[in-house]
Amino acid sequence: MSELDAPESTKPVFDRRKVVVVFVLGGPGAGKGTQCVKLVNEFRFSHLSAGDLLRAEQNREGSEFGELIRTCIREGNIVPMEITVKLLENAMKAEIEKNNGAEGWTDGRGRFLIDGFPRKMDQAIKFGEEVCVASLVLFFTTTEGIMLHRLLERGKTSGREDDNVESIRKRFNTYKEQTMPVVKYYAELGKVAEIDSSRSIDEVYRDAAQWMRKILNKDS
Ligand code: C5P
Ligand code: MG
Repeated sequence: MSELDAPESTKPVFDRRKVVVVFVLGGPGAGKGTQCVKLVNEFRFSHLSAGDLLRAEQNREGSEFGELIRTCIREGNIVPMEITVKLLENAMKAEIEKNNGAEGWTDGRGRFLIDGFPRKMDQAIKFGEEVCVASLVLFFTTTEGIMLHRLLERGKTSGREDDNVESIRKRFNTYKEQTMPVVKYYAELGKVAEIDSSRSIDEVYRDAAQWMRKILNKDS
């Protein structure tokens, strides 16, 4: 096989000129999910939460990864990246098919907010090489005190096995050790939009929406 025939020549799966990917990062409880829900109401983005996809796979009957995912999530550890990257790729394909024809979604085009990803450098590299190159990282920052308070509030009703003090402490450590280097990596590429998410939901949203408008004008 010549080099031109090598499978790598077909990667990444999605062309960044057709598919806009915005990563959404920030510590646990920083407000990523809340802001994504508001953003998809205004902009025709599809919201994919890596954590939600992992929880769905964990609960899928017959999944060979169910137990592994459950343990990682409870311990606040990162799930092996092949699993998460594949779940995202599959979900993106499904969304492009489902939305075909809608504004911003014609001829294989698509717009994605990928929430809680990449949480570790290996996920970032693999996704960029194999799936799609991201345009921007929305990075929500606030204090650990505020995040802890929000997560404990959410834990009263979320039913999540990791919204308890012990898991939260581990998630904070993983965030500092594994996710902050990812933010730094994209900051060096000039792709990080940092937003103070200590403020009210609407104040934070105003800044986030402004960044989305910028991205859409640039890429259209
Ligand atoms: O984003 P969320 O808080 O829902 O993620 C829950 C858990 O899912 C994380 O603590 C981690 O165990 C796992 N996860 C992961 N890789 C990601 C996103 C989430 O391993 N990119
Ligand atoms: Mg979330």
